[in-house]
Amino acid sequence: MIDPLVRFVTWFDEAEAHAGIGLHEAMALSTVGPEGRPSSRIVLLKSHGPEGFTFYTNLGSRKARDLAPDGPAALLFWWDAMDRQVHIEGTVSPVSAADADAYFATRPRVSQIGAWASRQSDSLSSRADLEAKVREFEARYDGGDVPRPPFWSGFTLTPTRIEFWTRGDARLHHREVYDAAAGTWSTSLLHP
Ligand SMILES: Cc1cc2nc3c(=O)[nH]c(=O)nc-3n(C[C@H](O)[C@H](O)[C@H](O)COP(=O)(O)O)c2cc1C
Repeated sequence: MIDPLVRFVTWFDEAEAHAGIGLHEAMALSTVGPEGRPSSRIVLLKSHGPEGFTFYTNLGSRKARDLAPDGPAALLFWWDAMDRQVHIEGTVSPVSAADADAYFATRPRVSQIGAWASRQSDSLSSRADLEAKVREFEARYDGGDVPRPPFWSGFTLTPTRIEFWTRGDARLHHREVYDAAAGTWSTSLLHP
């Protein structure tokens, strides 16, 4: 059996190389809030490997508030031009402060300032307020490095189930699912 994480890397790299795919690393992240309300949004996959799938965000955002330690979440890639979809389910844990610092340091300065200025998902009284915040943090860090805000970090989703979907003729799509429920990966096919 192919390791599903190896298979993911093959598909991800093929999507990256495909001229018809813009943001191959864009994925829908679905979470469930404390009252059982589901929500989805696009985030960017920033690293992946045996440890799982890592993305970064504001820790006060709706998605981050939904992600209880070891709580469930799902990721979905759709690579239109390749007729491929990957659906990943698992549990989420915070990345280390060192990893978050290292990634934050690679971000463009405007994104670093934006991370300080935005209280992501909170209500915003006016665009002008946000722009004033940006100017405030530009002035604060003028001439120096921008440190990572304490309210901005990442999460790694450790997969427990990965489905690889390929479009088939007459809607007879190919669905191959890998499940780690028994502690080791097993694979099976699903009806389309
Ligand atoms: C292409 C694309 C990439 C995005 N990447 C991220 C990201 O990596 N991290 C992030 O927090 N938000 C990202 N966003 C914004 C989110 O979709 C979302 O609007 C924001 O995180 C607030 O979501 P929430 O209120 O559900 O927490 C991205 C949006 C798009 C369209």
